[in-house]
Amino acid sequence: MRSIPLTRRWGGVLGSRLASSGQKSGVPNRGPVTWGSALLTAALGGGLLMYYQSEKERRQTTTTTTVKAVGKAALGGPWTLVDDSGLPTTDADLAGQHTLFYFGFTRCPDICPSELVKVGEIIDELDRRVGPKGPKVLPVFISVDPMRDSVEQLREYSRDFHPRMLFLTGTPDQVAAATRAYRVYFSKADAVSDQEYLVDHSIVMYLNGPDGEFLEFFTQSSSAADAVKKIMPIITA
Ligand code: NI
Repeated sequence: MRSIPLTRRWGGVLGSRLASSGQKSGVPNRGPVTWGSALLTAALGGGLLMYYQSEKERRQTTTTTTVKAVGKAALGGPWTLVDDSGLPTTDADLAGQHTLFYFGFTRCPDICPSELVKVGEIIDELDRRVGPKGPKVLPVFISVDPMRDSVEQLREYSRDFHPRMLFLTGTPDQVAAATRAYRVYFSKADAVSDQEYLVDHSIVMYLNGPDGEFLEFFTQSSSAADAVKKIMPIITA
């Protein structure tokens, strides 16, 4: 994975996102002296939060790789969510095309944005190889943070990623059903308040067939090139 260019490319977006999701419970303004240490604390805090989450997400990747042992037939199933225009969307609405699912949350500081950039790279390369009339894979982001990922939040977030990507969220029950179908783990972590927390979650992409059947998965360690190599023969078969 071209991590350095990606970091540079998304640095501005990530920076502003981190700032906007910052610690509102922070330090009151008591004048210039306190501000210096408050800023230092904020900087260190942000760094630690990112490191901690990355570690946790990496650990989840190991858990997710056991998915294969569960068996392909055991993954997927009916779900109902809502897209970033507020329209109800179900598994049946996606029938007839291959889909590439990624589960995450819009306030994820690091892993989700870089995985979503990778999804975009995979889609662009597939589009390039199959040509304008070839079979398209629909990239789909599904939120694991239904409390904060509103329709508006998704719409705003979607601007940073692939234009064909479908962004879905839902009620906590709807999200729970969709994640259960794909054995996606998620859990609130490091809560500062009911609005400020991270979500520890599986990092995995799922390729599904035109009938919604699960076909293949890719972890954080799979490169875009690896994924393209595996997906091409499937969609052109
Ligand atoms: Ni994430």
